[in-house]
Amino acid sequence: MSIIYHKNTRIFHLTNSSISYVIRIMENGQAENLYYGKKIHDREGLECFHEEAMRSHLAVALPEPSILSMQYTRQEYPGYGRGDYRSPAFVILQESGSRISDFTYVSHRIEEGKPSLAPLPATYAEDPSEAQTLTICFHDDLSDTDLDLVYTIYRDYPVITRHARISQKGPESVTIERAMSASVELPDKKFEMIRLTGAWARERYIKTTPLEVGIQAVHSLTGTGSSAEANPFLALQRPGTTESAGEVYGFSLVYSGNFLAQTEVSSFDLTRVMLGINPESFAWKLESGESFTTPEAVMVYSDQGLGHMSRVYHRLYRTRLVRGVWRDRPRPILLNNWEGTYFDFDENKLLEMASRAAEAGIELFVLDDGWFGKRNDDYAGLGDWFCNMEKIPSGISGLSEKIEALGLKFGLWVELEMINKDSDLYRAHPDWLIACPGRFESHSRHQHVLDFTRKEVVDHIYEMICRVIDSSRISYIKWDMNRYMTEPFSVALPADRQGEVMHRYILGVYDLYTRLTERFPEILFESCASGGARFDPGMLYFAPQAWTSDDTDAYERCKIQYGSSLVYPVVSMGAHVSAVPNHQLARTTPIETRAAVAMFGTFGYELDPAMLSDYDIEIIKGQTDFVKKYRDLIQIDGDFYRLLSPFEGNETAFAAVSRDKKRAVATFVQRLNKVNASWLRLRFAGLAEDVLYRVSHQVGGNILTTEAYGDELMYAGLPIDREELLRQGGDFAALVFTLEAKEA
Ligand code: DGJ
Repeated sequence: MSIIYHKNTRIFHLTNSSISYVIRIMENGQAENLYYGKKIHDREGLECFHEEAMRSHLAVALPEPSILSMQYTRQEYPGYGRGDYRSPAFVILQESGSRISDFTYVSHRIEEGKPSLAPLPATYAEDPSEAQTLTICFHDDLSDTDLDLVYTIYRDYPVITRHARISQKGPESVTIERAMSASVELPDKKFEMIRLTGAWARERYIKTTPLEVGIQAVHSLTGTGSSAEANPFLALQRPGTTESAGEVYGFSLVYSGNFLAQTEVSSFDLTRVMLGINPESFAWKLESGESFTTPEAVMVYSDQGLGHMSRVYHRLYRTRLVRGVWRDRPRPILLNNWEGTYFDFDENKLLEMASRAAEAGIELFVLDDGWFGKRNDDYAGLGDWFCNMEKIPSGISGLSEKIEALGLKFGLWVELEMINKDSDLYRAHPDWLIACPGRFESHSRHQHVLDFTRKEVVDHIYEMICRVIDSSRISYIKWDMNRYMTEPFSVALPADRQGEVMHRYILGVYDLYTRLTERFPEILFESCASGGARFDPGMLYFAPQAWTSDDTDAYERCKIQYGSSLVYPVVSMGAHVSAVPNHQLARTTPIETRAAVAMFGTFGYELDPAMLSDYDIEIIKGQTDFVKKYRDLIQIDGDFYRLLSPFEGNETAFAAVSRDKKRAVATFVQRLNKVNASWLRLRFAGLAEDVLYRVSHQVGGNILTTEAYGDELMYAGLPIDREELLRQGGDFAALVFTLEAKEA
């Protein structure tokens, strides 16, 4: 890996064994993108990729006879108002009222490793030899403003990360109205754009559309989260790309607030991709001496299809975004009481559930919403982070000890960013809401958003929740967030800083996460937002797993987990077996299927085990034994392969293959059963062709075993008799295959 600088041609070549990213400083001092893609040779003459032609309406950036025009140039960080009529990467309002900037190259530096972006979340290098970072420094003389574009290339991954930093040097203030994290231009438009979109209970469905001239985007404006409707990610794939072949560019933003990820195809078929904080309603004032750093964009290039892109994101995010003691540990099997009881529980009920869970091999009991303040429904209590002693006479401290005495660890739900008006906190601090004086305060789930732009608010919540944690035996925290922001206004900020509210809010959330994770490094945090409304890389930096969706139906989860897996590792996806009929869809699926899907996540249960028969507890015991045996492979060591897509057909399948390719686990799920139909073939991926595997799966309580070479399993496929699916329940039946290499 290296970052090469060619002084004569002012070209930077960021390259490793698989990718090349080539930047040139143009004659006008701005940066041009010459090439991004599969690794190419390095040479001084890479400027041959610069395209320049005389055209009508050409706005030329330099004195005659130059014809260098920004309109037709593939730029690294395009600005507004200088002859480029496409969307800019940045807009800076100056005191004169001008939005025109002219940032020209001043210097650059290349350093080993990757500097931290704290307090913003970002990927990291554990050892300086893992990555190299290039900072290119530009300056705008008129406003006396600095712009740094920062690029990191990883040694072992086809990954480039980018962010920008704007610093005001001059005596006058400036206001940043738009500052994207990255802008990249590709020389053609022969791509399909992949987005992860959805809504509550159907988060991160895959949507693929061809690129055409004009703008296509995915974005969030919800204020409190990256949202259920959109995920801060897009990919461009060549038509015909499959899981294992084809060229794909992935763009992911390490951020949890309002974002924009956009493609713009020009009339000359250039494709400009940019992503960053959503400029809508955003404005950030920089006084003299202040700086603003954008979130980090993580770009992955794959010439081996979507599957490879995903596996790169998985490994990078699992090992170089997630931090802390839980990064490399398989996750405990948990029981969450939410769907089992909702708000209707007391201490005895919880202990009854926990003791039954212990019998079934479950390791962690999570007490969800309803344990604090006057919280017996969702009208009251948020903000009062002290135990409701009427429901739990032993308090959280006593309850957690009793749960531990049963042999389980104890976890607790919180929703620290929110407040009900019916709470002691609101009565004491009615002005702590995000709200606009004189305007109606829109409510959602009877709750309001606390003003986390204010340090004293974050301090207060931190003190309150620390008192609970310090006095109890808490091993896990589920950090929920159940509404989007309205009336984004802070009474603590002056008029000219109201455009900062939503970004400052997210910085407040990151601040509280930083304080809690640093003070309680052994606690496993799981983020949540009405299910998966804040499932993003920013959250993963603080909380290594996230509740994927409130939809716990096994078949719906096939789609949600499949879509999420485009970017996010299996170990980040909270996935639970819940009761049937399912609470979201009233659908009944076999318990084997519910487990077969949930085990490709941080496996757990979300039901009342005290209602289950001894027979059911035995089944669950079998499932927890299985997960304990294979979770290291599925969650930590293995590579994830999507085999069959629920978005394309009746069958879904995915597999985890160990890095040494000696073991694998695969789940196969069908939607509806088919009568008198042909056999199926399950084609594996990622196996070693020459290895003979013992393939086992369970049907109706019997273990069936066969042997096959990796090449047979991958190219001919494993034949599946539909009779087996019938015996597994027919509709929504699942089969779980384990593969073990036979010793030579
Ligand atoms: C929304 C979450 O997604 C659920 O799992 C549960 O924790 C509820 N909130 C509790 O209010």
